Order: sequence, then structure tokens, then C-alpha cells
Amino acid sequence: SKGNHRHYMLKEIYEQPIVVAQTLRSYLQRMEERVTLPIPDFDLSAIRRVTIVACGTSFYAGMVAKYWFEQFARVPVDLDVASEFRYRAPVMEEGGLMIVISQSGETADTLAALRHAKSEGQKIAAVVNVPTSTMAREADLLLPTHAGPEIGVASTKAFTCQLAVLAALAANLARAKGRLTPADEKSIVRHLAEAPAALNGALAYDESIEAMAHSVAAARDVLYLGRGTDYPLALEGALKLKEISYIHAEGYAAGEMKHGPIALIDDAVPVIVIAPSGPLFDKTVSNMQEVQARGGRVILISDYDGVQAAGENCLATITMPKVHPLIAPLVYAVPVQLLAYHVAVAKGTDVDQPRNLAKSVTVE
Ligand code: F6R
Repeated sequence: SKGNHRHYMLKEIYEQPIVVAQTLRSYLQRMEERVTLPIPDFDLSAIRRVTIVACGTSFYAGMVAKYWFEQFARVPVDLDVASEFRYRAPVMEEGGLMIVISQSGETADTLAALRHAKSEGQKIAAVVNVPTSTMAREADLLLPTHAGPEIGVASTKAFTCQLAVLAALAANLARAKGRLTPADEKSIVRHLAEAPAALNGALAYDESIEAMAHSVAAARDVLYLGRGTDYPLALEGALKLKEISYIHAEGYAAGEMKHGPIALIDDAVPVIVIAPSGPLFDKTVSNMQEVQARGGRVILISDYDGVQAAGENCLATITMPKVHPLIAPLVYAVPVQLLAYHVAVAKGTDVDQPRNLAKSVTVE
């Protein structure tokens, strides 16, 4: 049931602190401060390359994970949407791990990619939310998300749970490759364990996000910008907005603006900038200022320090709790989900059942 919530989507957004905590329980040994896997003795030490394949929101979780696998495990990562992967001629060498990511575990293109990679001798890890699904059964390493049933067509809680699992997997791989000091492992466990409380902190901004939804609801086009792991979040924000509010939205890597899309900027195009304070902040802010210099109206999503430093000329700001960069993608997912939700409600669309979309896409 939807409980007190008007839509399943909102209920599922609000469940995130609990289901992320639930999911992390299978991947963190809090006492020992070690990361673990549901199959603890699964040997990752021979993995030399990772291929991540998924669709839609699950693909964006994979895109975030690419940064983690490279940073922690120093393993090269190949990343593709399933419908493209299957029909090119991907090189799959020995020592390759394919990671499929899917809420339903039934998405036809992702399943076809899994089967193709398996026939080429790749080990298969599957991050899935439905434990009885086809992908769950066919994987060598099942990595469940414990988000519970996701009813709203727009994926929300499955996404943050996927991120939690993928962060833990990246740390496990790093350890198996001898690239994780015990101190680093401890700090990863501690930061991941802070995610549920930080998600709660992010949810506290629901009302202020609702209050600014009208300024986005009137737009015909919206741009989302981010750098690093905030780039896939920009893509995810744009996907959420277009699928439930039917407003045209694009996500861009902030540094790509000047290579074309800045031509779109005028005062009718809201630009959502996702920029937690940190090493990439100044770069993103300078891209943001290029937008503002052309009359663009910016909604800045950052933390207190970021909003203090760069919020002045913005149309609006959304202040997230200050968090470690590892969990920022989980935390910053919340405001982009809430913004899409409130814009859709303001426009009066069918939030849980957007037109032309199915919860599980079982045709290629
Ligand atoms: C977006 C959305 C879709 C799914 C995609 C993959 O909100 O729900 O983009 O993420 O269809 O579905 P799964 O994860 O079931 O493979």
C-alpha cells in the first residue's frame, strides 16, 4: 500500500534510508569494519577487467560504479547500455567480470547481454532486486539489493540500493586485488554506514524542493549538469524528469556545456547544477557561471559550504547534508528524485504510471 503517501513513487523515495540500510547489512561487517559479499568466498582476485551492462536508471548506477572500480580497484571498466553492448563486437578476454544491474532482473536486453557474455566465458555478477528473477538465477555471483518491491514505474529506491551494493563490490574487488589497506577498508565501511542517516537528512528538504517545483514545471526544456559521479546523476535527474513530467530534459557533463549545449541557454531553460563541495566543485561552478553569464537560471544542489560559496546568483539552492564523496551519489539522488516528483505532481501527470512506459521491459 502507499501508506500515507499520495503515490508509490513518493513512498519509495522515503523508504530509501531503511532499504539502503537493509541492503548494506549483507555487504558490511560493521564490527570487523570489513566489506563482504553475500558469497564471502567468491574469488575476485583473478578479475582483470570489468564490463558493466544495464539499461536506464540501472545503467546510471553502473556509470557511477565505473568511477569506484577504477579508483579503488584500479581495474579497467567497460560500460555500455545493454541494447548497444549486445550488437557490437565487445572484446571479452579471460579474467573478465560482467556486472549486470537490473531492478527487475528480467530486462530483455540486459538478459541477452548476460547470456552472450556467459557464452564467451565471462564470470557474471548480477545486481538485482527481484531474487527469483531470471538474471538472479543465471548469474555466478548474485548480489541482491534489498529494496523490496518497487511499484512506481520510475525507479528510485532500487537505484540507491544498487549504488550501495556496487560501492561494496568495488571495495571487495580492491581488497581481492591487494589494493585496499585495512585503514581504507575501515573508512569505506564507515562512510557507507553513514548513508542511511544522510539519506534521511536529504529527505528533510522535501518541502523546500516542492516549493520550487513550479519554476521548473513551467519550462519546456531543462538541463542538468554535473562532473565526476555527479555526471551520471545529472543524466538520472534528466531521465526522472522526462519520464514522469514529460518535460524535455538533458543531462550533461558540466565541462561539455561549451561544446554545444550552451547554445540552448536563455532565461527560459532552468539549469540544475549538481555540485557537492569537493575537488571538482570549482570547475563545475565555473561552468555554472558561464551559464549564468548567458542569462541561464540555475538551481544549485550542493551542501552548506557550496551554497555559501556559489549560491548567490542562483534562482534557487538546495542544501544537502555535507557527506563523504563516496556516498554523495546516493544522497544527491534524493533531491533529483523529489524535484522530478513534485514537478510531475504540479503538472498533474500520472506519476506512478507514466504514459508509454512499462515497469519491466521484456522485449528487445
Ligand atoms: C527509469 C526506469 C528505467 C529502468 C530500466 C531498467 O526510472 O525505471 O529506465 O531503470 O528499464 O530496468 P531494470 O533495472 O529492471 O533492468
